[in-house]
Amino acid sequence: MSWELKTILLCALTVYITSVVVGVEEWQGDEKCADLNNTTWLEYQQQRVKLQVQYLLLTRSTMDCAQMFSQESLTMPSSHFNTSRPTKVIIHGYRALGSKPSWVKELAQALLRAQDVNVLVVDWVYGASFAYNLVVENYKEVAVQISVLINQLQEHGCNLESFHFIGVSLGAHVAGFVGTLFEGKIGRITGLDPAGPMFKRADTFDRLDPSDAQFVDAIHTDSDYFGISIPVGHVDFFLNGGKDQTGCARSRFASILIYFPVYGYVICDHMRALHVYMSALNGSCPLKGIPCFNYEDFLRGQCVDCDVFGGTCPTIGLSENSGIVLSPIPKEQKLFLLTTSSPPFCTHHILLELEVSPLDKSAEVEVTLRTENLGTEQRLRLQTSTTVYRTVLAHPVALCEIGSIELKNTGARFYRQGDIHVKSVCLTEFPSLRREHPLCVNNINVRRGAPWSHHFVQVCGFF
Ligand SMILES: *[C@@H]1O[C@H](CO)[C@@H](O)[C@H](O)[C@H]1NC(C)=O
Ligand SMILES: *[C@@H]1O[C@H](CO)[C@@H](O)[C@H](O)[C@H]1NC(C)=O
Ligand SMILES: *[C@@H]1O[C@H](CO)[C@@H](O)[C@H](O)[C@H]1NC(C)=O
Ligand SMILES: *[C@@H]1O[C@H](CO)[C@@H](O)[C@H](O)[C@H]1NC(C)=O
Repeated sequence: MSWELKTILLCALTVYITSVVVGVEEWQGDEKCADLNNTTWLEYQQQRVKLQVQYLLLTRSTMDCAQMFSQESLTMPSSHFNTSRPTKVIIHGYRALGSKPSWVKELAQALLRAQDVNVLVVDWVYGASFAYNLVVENYKEVAVQISVLINQLQEHGCNLESFHFIGVSLGAHVAGFVGTLFEGKIGRITGLDPAGPMFKRADTFDRLDPSDAQFVDAIHTDSDYFGISIPVGHVDFFLNGGKDQTGCARSRFASILIYFPVYGYVICDHMRALHVYMSALNGSCPLKGIPCFNYEDFLRGQCVDCDVFGGTCPTIGLSENSGIVLSPIPKEQKLFLLTTSSPPFCTHHILLELEVSPLDKSAEVEVTLRTENLGTEQRLRLQTSTTVYRTVLAHPVALCEIGSIELKNTGARFYRQGDIHVKSVCLTEFPSLRREHPLCVNNINVRRGAPWSHHFVQVCGFF
């Protein structure tokens, strides 16, 4: 979506600000449970006192009921913070509406289901509201306050390596600055669509970068608007190219007036990184990134393996160093993968390769891959200058489940397109550990008006 459009949407949004209450998930009814603060612009303007950073603690024994946490909590026997366990620190980003982030509980719980850790939620809603440029002035002060708490935790026996910061949007740069203050000795920082505006050209001192922790991973989903477009970690996953996400509305301008959740519409791409991360924590299916120079090369099938990582593709989630076993770990490595539009987001990557005999006119073929109950179509425009075509498809099921392939000669009606002689059509699923033989059919004449199809006899899972 264009800058202009999103800016207009944001303006439309501010009109609502005084009256809107965005759907906010409440912690379970218990009054004793702590919750994130909230504020309004009006309140902020009137008070403008201090940042009011506060912390919530969640552990496996308090998954449904957060406790307030401060350095004093450590000396209280009632605190559930366990200094022998690793600590995850969640940092939210800019809060345009002054509302508390609604996803915090789900992220904390997904982390706790995956690992027995302390989860600290940094609540800086108060300092994260109001105009974006003023909030950006606050973020380093927030990081300084967090570093004071981390120092205290160190004195109680936590080591820096055991901290993993997970920062959403602007929160990623807050985490980055905490990392800078500890000279990169923090264990890990994960940036979920790290904020772009005012950071892209910033010095590495001011933004998240690989020197901020022993390992830094980032997921990019809105790098043309709210997210940053440059790599900021050791590995940077660019989902669907990192800009526009499947299932997020593109430019249905009229929908602003019709549908209420304008905000959700504007930030759909941006928040996708968080939702994909939570899904990965749930362990639903592996989300592996393929190293490539850029998305266009990736889509053209130029990058189909993880040889630069010794054959193991980096995976989104909690595995150590994203599963990378190389040392030293490469930096600012761009990784690409396709996703679906809803949890668990995983899809199969299938490389389609078509080789034709030279044509005297440009032509078009439609390739359909069929399983028992669905078909995936891909159109290829064939030029006279090229005979080999490669393209990457997001496919809902594995290659071994594809029952048949169909080729249709779909040239324009008004001129006679001759037969297309296909020397070979091949399918390969990637990334793949075992070097799979591609599934190929050779020597086919595809006539106009006479679709060609071929059934595959194959079985899944005998490896
Ligand atoms: C934040 O919450 C605390 C209590 O949890 C309250 O004392 C304080 O006034 C709140 N601040 C704002 C700005 O709402
Ligand atoms: C958030 O705001 C609402 C309405 O302004 C208020 O009722 C609620 O108590 C606030 N929650 C917190 C935690 O400050
Ligand atoms: C703290 O965590 C360690 C390591 O997981 C565990 O052995 C110990 O029992 C925990 N202490 C408490 C009080 O839960
Ligand atoms: C993760 O699992 C929990 C519990 O099974 C579920 O409530 C939640 O919606 C899941 N989240 C995602 C993103 O799949």
